[in-house]
Amino acid sequence: MIDLSINGERHSVDVPEDMPLLWVLRDVLGLTGTKFGCGVTQCGACTVHVDGQAIRSCVTPASTVVGSEVVTIEGVGATDPGGRVQAAWLEHQVVQCGYCQSGQIMSASALLAANPAPDDAAIDEAMSGNICRCGTYPRIRAAIKTAAKA
Ligand code: FES
Ligand code: FES
Repeated sequence: MIDLSINGERHSVDVPEDMPLLWVLRDVLGLTGTKFGCGVTQCGACTVHVDGQAIRSCVTPASTVVGSEVVTIEGVGATDPGGRVQAAWLEHQVVQCGYCQSGQIMSASALLAANPAPDDAAIDEAMSGNICRCGTYPRIRAAIKTAAKA
């Protein structure tokens, strides 16, 4: 059994130690807001927070986050700046198809937690690993600036 803390709740899951955290979240715990895109750290769709850091859950064995606090898109709205980021996303109507957006919000929230007033270069650097096939990048950047001011 592996004991995990996710969005403030404890979960004991009976899974192989090398099972990716993404698999545990989606297939074992039913937290399907975090998406599978590439499986090889190239798209950012699977981004979650581990102790406040944005990580790619598709390549992170679940056993390596035992003792850490995992936050997913289902829980980030209860955090600051996660709540501000989600409100700004709505204000700017960032989402198009939506598939990449939970990962985008998780990366943006981690950015603002580390840098409350990022400039364009800091935003581009922090968000460069999150791919959006719909091209919502200008709205993402605008929403991050709104969230920073909120
Ligand atoms: S699914 Fe993890 S980075 Fe693409
Ligand atoms: S909103 Fe469609 S991939 Fe980003």
